[in-house]
Amino acid sequence: MKPKSVIFVIIHVLQGCIVDGQTICKRHWTAEWKTQPTVHVVKWSLTQNICSSYYTECWNIDSDNRNAIESSALSNSQICPLQLQEGDILFISSEPSFQPLGMSLANVSLEGFIKCPQQTEVPQEQLIFGCRLNGMHQIESQWLGTGTHYFIEAVTSGPLLCNLGLRLNVTVKPHICQQSSSASFCSGRGKCLSHIWDDAYHCYCNPPYLGRFCQEFDVCSRKPCYNNASCINKEGQTEQDGESYECICSSQFKGKNCSEIVGQCQPHSCSNGNCINVSSNTYKCQCDTGFAGKKFIHCNIQSCLHDSALNYL
Ligand SMILES: *[C@@H]1O[C@H](CO)[C@@H](O)[C@H](O)[C@H]1NC(C)=O
Ligand SMILES: *[C@@H]1O[C@H](CO)[C@@H](O)[C@H](O)[C@H]1NC(C)=O
Ligand SMILES: *[C@@H]1O[C@H](CO)[C@@H](O)[C@H](O)[C@H]1NC(C)=O
Ligand SMILES: *[C@@H]1O[C@H](CO)[C@@H](O)[C@H](O)[C@H]1NC(C)=O
Ligand SMILES: *[C@@H]1O[C@H](CO)[C@@H](O)[C@H](O)[C@H]1NC(C)=O
Repeated sequence: MKPKSVIFVIIHVLQGCIVDGQTICKRHWTAEWKTQPTVHVVKWSLTQNICSSYYTECWNIDSDNRNAIESSALSNSQICPLQLQEGDILFISSEPSFQPLGMSLANVSLEGFIKCPQQTEVPQEQLIFGCRLNGMHQIESQWLGTGTHYFIEAVTSGPLLCNLGLRLNVTVKPHICQQSSSASFCSGRGKCLSHIWDDAYHCYCNPPYLGRFCQEFDVCSRKPCYNNASCINKEGQTEQDGESYECICSSQFKGKNCSEIVGQCQPHSCSNGNCINVSSNTYKCQCDTGFAGKKFIHCNIQSCLHDSALNYL
């Protein structure tokens, strides 16, 4: 193809792109780890899957929620960003009409992704394929370690297609869902998930399990603390280990489960009566006329009962 016809093709393609209107990238906010690697094919093309606004199109988020990225990058046209799990396979499939331009892919920094360097500025070792793009090419795993990678078009001649959107943000996520390589994911008690902004997949445990691998049991789910005390799980507890929790008692209560009343008179220690401290740990209820109760009462809130009620005891 002569250069003129190439440029014609490009203009034609770009018009198609503009007519298509804005692209909202399809997203899953949360993804579950797949046990088998997925094969992804990204079309290295300007005709589809190009978003041009970081917030509204590429990530489809409310700009109030995030300010993670500098404003200069916000209006970069780019291929819809991709998120992979570690071990996935990625192919780049080049647009046939661009092939005569001698396209090649380069691995660049975030700055390079935003600025789109000229091909002449891109060192050889950053080129992802030894050859030029022609059909389908697999990106070798050395370029797809965990983290975010920026791949741009480094065209040898002709228009600067990187600026127009031939650039790709690929985030590769590992999982932290197995205690050992033979263990089941999340101990079989939860899901291995990644939210879109997470760096990795993590366990989301089914209650009452907790811990990084859902290997722990939430003893507090049994509600062992009385009298509105808060419950704290101690680390490393298992389902059998019923004691590994701590109850934080309010000042009136004590004991492992906050079930014991501190021995001094407290408001309402004695209903229908007066409370008298007998010692530092005990109290006595002096019941009002018409009410009676045990003489020395320990850990008993409803201490004075109406005489008539006592008949039923
Ligand atoms: C890709 O580019 C980034 C940013 O410059 C660099 O840190 C990384 O090492 C490069 N990857 C490879 C495999 O060279
Ligand atoms: C690249 O993708 C990551 C999420 O995977 C995102 O945090 C980052 O802002 C993106 N960078 C650009 C320049 O769009
Ligand atoms: C605390 O409650 C648990 C059951 O939830 C019980 O087994 C244990 O004996 C109680 N401990 C005390 C000191 O009351
Ligand atoms: C129980 O505790 C919660 C929060 O700690 C508090 O808002 C609530 O008023 C308490 N209830 C009683 C009956 O003390
Ligand atoms: C009981 O003892 C507490 C704490 O020492 C004190 O604040 C309270 O006034 C005493 N109550 C009576 C009725 O003596």
